[in-house]
Amino acid sequence: MWIYDSFEGLPEKSDKDRSALGVDFQKGVLVVTKREVKERFLRAGLPVPVIKKGWFADLTEMDLPEKIAFAFLDGDLYESIKDSLTLVGPKMSSGGVMLVHDYNNSALPGVAKAVNEWMQGKDLELRVLGSLMAIELK
Ligand SMILES: C[S@@+](CC[C@H](N)C(=O)[O-])C[C@H]1O[C@@H](n2cnc3c(N)ncnc32)[C@H](O)[C@@H]1O
Repeated sequence: MWIYDSFEGLPEKSDKDRSALGVDFQKGVLVVTKREVKERFLRAGLPVPVIKKGWFADLTEMDLPEKIAFAFLDGDLYESIKDSLTLVGPKMSSGGVMLVHDYNNSALPGVAKAVNEWMQGKDLELRVLGSLMAIELK
């Protein structure tokens, strides 16, 4: 398992993220530390994953595993989800699944915008599960 996060909370919103319902999702909110994440795995008796600190926009394909079977994308904002899909999408195995959190969350409209743009012209199986979008790669 690999985890990627700024550990500095959310970055600045873009115009695509503006929503009257999303006023709480400001730059710097939702901060946790790398240590807190590690401790949660240890307390649960689970192996500690590879944890990479950084902004998604600064990651390259070298920072990711060669092939990915399952990815959970939870970056809340347009640029964050766009960057995640650009990095993770090409690494997905055939039959692999990406779950995108907040696809149906009207407080975070940038998520659906990034997903809808990215999936144009691609052969994918899509399923909306509550606030999640499940994308299966063919
Ligand atoms: C809603 S939280 C989800 C965290 C985790 N999935 C969970 O459920 O506890 C969103 C996380 O995305 C991170 N994040 C959002 N945009 C990012 C970006 N562009 N680069 C790095 N981290 C980002 C934030 O730091 C925050 O920890």
